[in-house]
Amino acid sequence: MKVKVNDRVYDGELEPVMVILTAQDKENIRNMLPHCTRYCMYPSEDYKADKISAWMTDVTSGKSGDMSREDWLRAWREDPHWATSMKPSPLAKELVSIEADNKTKGSILEIGCGNGRDSIHFGKQGHYVMGIDISPEAVKLAKRNNKLDNVHFEVGDAEKLRFDTSSFDAVYSLSVLHSTKMEKSIGELARVLKKKGLALLYLYIKTVYIDDEDKEKRRTEVNFKVGEMDKLLTGNKLQILDKYKTELEDEDEDGKHIHSIIVYFLRKK
Ligand SMILES: C[S@@+](CC[C@H](N)C(=O)[O-])C[C@H]1O[C@@H](n2cnc3c(N)ncnc32)[C@H](O)[C@@H]1O
Repeated sequence: MKVKVNDRVYDGELEPVMVILTAQDKENIRNMLPHCTRYCMYPSEDYKADKISAWMTDVTSGKSGDMSREDWLRAWREDPHWATSMKPSPLAKELVSIEADNKTKGSILEIGCGNGRDSIHFGKQGHYVMGIDISPEAVKLAKRNNKLDNVHFEVGDAEKLRFDTSSFDAVYSLSVLHSTKMEKSIGELARVLKKKGLALLYLYIKTVYIDDEDKEKRRTEVNFKVGEMDKLLTGNKLQILDKYKTELEDEDEDGKHIHSIIVYFLRKK
């Protein structure tokens, strides 16, 4: 099958691409092979050719992760269920003691700040914080939640940071980078990190739905292997100080699921 979106023709023989046109088709996805689901697009009210085109470029360019940029923008508009609590994550609490060379509190870049809960937490410890998110809705909400002068939020893309080389003492990112092209996003975060700067990353390795007869079918694997990730990090001059795996149980409209997670604590050489 060939699909034409704007000027580009996608060939189903060559690229595993699928556009889901009706709400009813969403149901059919549940019966498909699990790896197919990450190539599916669900309908939404702003279902326009340019959006489909951007989304298809993502999936056909080998983007890793189970959420594309378009998925995130839509999720923020429709159901940001993860964005309701302002309680800082347990991981954020591990990153409050960073100090810059001159012994003032170090500067922190948060990539994928969501509603701003962790950036604001760092700000309360006295850090200068820049929180970025691909979603304008997220940034609007984070700005609304923030009252601190040392915390700033703006729209930005993990794969193309606007900041100068060596500009932050620490980079923090929770539940974000696995859905980016990590060759780009890891390169970018390493670039903006100062020498000896620290990074704390929290990445999903896979998600399995439970209490669901189709659970094996409803399993999403993020497209990276931990060994390859280690190489990508060290290749970008990020020394691995510590790493550990953990699990998190969560629930959304599709039911309960367990995320397998890897946490990296890194230092720029
Ligand atoms: C699961 S949420 C986590 C939000 C926040 N870190 C937290 O824990 O509350 C993932 C966030 O990453 C953002 N995001 C996804 N891709 C991004 C990219 N390429 N650059 C910046 N942010 C991105 C999404 O819009 C979303 O707000």
